[in-house]
Amino acid sequence: MGKAKMKKLREVSTFPFVYENKNFLAPSICDSTGQVLEWKGEWAKNAFKNSNPITMELACGKGDYTIALAERFPERNFIGVDIKGDRLWRGGMTVQSKGLTNVVFVRSKIEQLDLFFASHEIDEIWITFPDPFPKKPDTKRRLSAPSFLELYKKLMKENGFIHFKTDALDLFNYTEESMKEAGYELLTVQRDIYGNQLADEITSIKTYYELMHLADARTINYLKAIVK
Ligand SMILES: C[S@@+](CC[C@H](N)C(=O)[O-])C[C@H]1O[C@@H](n2cnc3c(N)ncnc32)[C@H](O)[C@@H]1O
Repeated sequence: MGKAKMKKLREVSTFPFVYENKNFLAPSICDSTGQVLEWKGEWAKNAFKNSNPITMELACGKGDYTIALAERFPERNFIGVDIKGDRLWRGGMTVQSKGLTNVVFVRSKIEQLDLFFASHEIDEIWITFPDPFPKKPDTKRRLSAPSFLELYKKLMKENGFIHFKTDALDLFNYTEESMKEAGYELLTVQRDIYGNQLADEITSIKTYYELMHLADARTINYLKAIVK
């Protein structure tokens, strides 16, 4: 690992709004002082000192969507989740420079979130540009694979919204089908949101990966579903 990445990983652990699971084999969630937190069902109260609804961005990378939404919706709480600490460091630097108080980051595998969050604690989920895992043996690693959709049902309040954005059309088609099969209600299914003038103020927020895909002339797709 390079020195710059090491430095970011050290620094990200010192941010008071970053919570980390440092051992995936013996999972626990810690704050920047190393204290183990038992916050199931109490994230709004403990992390944000309020009872506002929680929007969670999964595989948030540098947290572009989390931050852009947090600026627009100060009356909501935002939790960006990713396993990569150096990407969360970038998001953390932005949160600090903007002085946002309604954003925290959790460094964890998404698969383990039900160890740290209570059932139905999350009001809304965003998933933006997840890894497409195009090869058949990797399908189960897609963030819209059946096991993940069951996990989201557990984490989410009933009738909460899930938003999904990707350039990968195969993944998009797969997600539409897997959500239907999991009993989610699809509200919006939009292919090529910019070419078809479908993007609105929220769906046209662009992440780091989205900007790269647009530079490659790829089209962007968006769907919104209700988690039942
Ligand atoms: C292609 S990047 C997209 C990042 C960001 N959403 C964006 O659009 O710029 C995918 C991200 O998913 C994260 N990721 C993939 N699988 C994950 C998992 N099981 N748990 C947590 N993060 C995961 C990776 O670390 C990476 O940052």
